[in-house]
Amino acid sequence: MTVSSHADLDALTRVGRLVARALREMRRAARAGMTTAELDEIGAAFLVRHGARSAPQLTYNFPGFSCISVNEQIVHGVPGSRRLEPGDVVKIDVTAELDGFVADAAATVLLAPASDEALRLKRCARAAFAKAMEIARPGRQINEIGRAIEDEVKRAGFSIVREMCGHGVGRTIHEAPTVPNYFSAMTRGTLREGMVIAVEPIISSRPTRVVEERDGWTLRTQQRCLAAHYEHTVMIRDGRPLLLTAA
Ligand code: MF3
Ligand code: CO
Ligand code: CO
Repeated sequence: MTVSSHADLDALTRVGRLVARALREMRRAARAGMTTAELDEIGAAFLVRHGARSAPQLTYNFPGFSCISVNEQIVHGVPGSRRLEPGDVVKIDVTAELDGFVADAAATVLLAPASDEALRLKRCARAAFAKAMEIARPGRQINEIGRAIEDEVKRAGFSIVREMCGHGVGRTIHEAPTVPNYFSAMTRGTLREGMVIAVEPIISSRPTRVVEERDGWTLRTQQRCLAAHYEHTVMIRDGRPLLLTAA
């Protein structure tokens, strides 16, 4: 969406803060021994208490509140009986709706003892996001975001999962425009003041194809290499990126 009033901005700010706080609670709570369903419940309880709903549930009938994806699982992991283990790489992706507005954010949590590869992969996803934020200004091309992300990920020796892209967001989860995490000449469009997009580098430790698990939702790397994810809902505001889902 494009924000065109103070009321829009206030509502988006409210849902963005809730998503940020839910994600923070879940990151703090993540521990070896707990199931992903238990971790999901922590975010769900917080958001429901504040009047918010699961946007994946509302929009796609997703069987959980948030997406939790472990190790080789990339995104859209269904919370369930899988128990977190020491050394796990846990991607938590929270998308909530409040009063008709939607915010989307994700982070990667490493359970001790984190491997060196996991640490570098997680840092790379964040660094690629930070590079994208240098581009997120009015007048820049949407495909420059992908170029910035791709450059950073290649520099670190990791791979982009090209099947998954960032997207417009605000009134529902997935809106125009599509925001690829790599340079694509076919991606046309310019960032404008007021635009709201989810920027989300999704990367793997090696080049990989994407496989859907039997639950019909969870996407994982074909050779079971590690994946990391980092995401914020970003508004182009006063010539700069404003992170609506930052704590
Ligand atoms: N939060 C996801 C994203 O960043 C969307 C999840 S919707 C689901 O795009 F239904 F696939 F879970
Ligand atoms: Co998301
Ligand atoms: Co998203």
